[in-house]
Amino acid sequence: EAGEHESYMRKEILEQPTTAQAVLRGRLDERFGTAHLGGLDMDARDLRAVRRVKILGCGSAYYVGQMGAALIEELARIPADAEAASEFRYRDPVIEPDTLYVAVSQSGETIDTLLAVQEVRRKGGRCVGLVNVVGSAIARECDGGIYLHAGPEVAVASTKALTNMFLGFALLALQLGRVRDLSIADGKRLVAGLERLPGQIEEVLASEADLVDVAKELAEARSLFFIGRVRGFPVAREGAQKFKEISYRHAEAYQTSELKHGPLALIDPEVPTVALVPSDELTERNIGALHEIDARQGPLVVITHEEVDLGEIGARRIVVPRNEPELDPILLTIPLQLLAYHAAQHLGHDIDKPRNLAKSVTVE
Ligand code: BG6
Repeated sequence: EAGEHESYMRKEILEQPTTAQAVLRGRLDERFGTAHLGGLDMDARDLRAVRRVKILGCGSAYYVGQMGAALIEELARIPADAEAASEFRYRDPVIEPDTLYVAVSQSGETIDTLLAVQEVRRKGGRCVGLVNVVGSAIARECDGGIYLHAGPEVAVASTKALTNMFLGFALLALQLGRVRDLSIADGKRLVAGLERLPGQIEEVLASEADLVDVAKELAEARSLFFIGRVRGFPVAREGAQKFKEISYRHAEAYQTSELKHGPLALIDPEVPTVALVPSDELTERNIGALHEIDARQGPLVVITHEEVDLGEIGARRIVVPRNEPELDPILLTIPLQLLAYHAAQHLGHDIDKPRNLAKSVTVE
């Protein structure tokens, strides 16, 4: 029962401060600035032998996989990328013994992800899982893994499981980093950041009421863009995915830097853009792109940090708290969940069971 909540999706969004704690519990080591992931079944030597990381998942799990790849590359300095598990086996992929494959799945039953894991293992690769449902097919098929402890997720649109996937990747990146060159100071900085996150997620959720009008405006658009750069781009992809899944509006994610190479032609007063503009080394460049949109009267919603000054740009500002830059993507994701939710609510859609979609796709 969704209980006093109008929907499971909203209930699951609001549970995140608690469920985020559950995935971190017992896994952080403040003294050595690292994480302990016993379920991975890899010792320090195994972890040091990893030369590349390939992440496999579908839908939101694929997009959070891209966030995870960025974390691993930044913290552990290991080349990492994510690929749609649904495409992987069809290109007869080369499986390398020193690549760590990571399958990501809430249900643990998505057939495309399961078949990708089997492809890796059949060719002699090592595959670990980031899975929510204990004892599920993917969890059983993997060599080891990290359970997400988000509790049952009912709404088709993933929220709390996705957040825990991100945190699972942060733990993995931290542990991989600390057996390599990540300094203890950086390790401690990230452990402290992870410990602060559940409270900051709560802060973002507390500002839900401020977002409802913005969501209603976005719901009226037939088509909209979600844009971000580098760490922010997978966040934009996830935001667009969530929005289209439950509001049935055309929502397209783009790298902010690519706007001028094509989609700027579509910007006009009818086409809103949701832009991710964290306070980081790319803030000024991001603001440059906002000027281009503003000059064409494109309505703007900007998810940003307090200190970012948008100057003359006409935009709706949604401010989230700052954490460590590597961990900020998850705080930028939370308002996008709420925007999608309130847009769909405004349109009167069945939020938990959007048309044409299933919670887990278990047949090819
Ligand atoms: C899709 C769902 O079919 O499967 C998405 O509609 C979900 O919401 C994706 O992200 C992957 O599911 P899972 O269970 O493998 O994480």
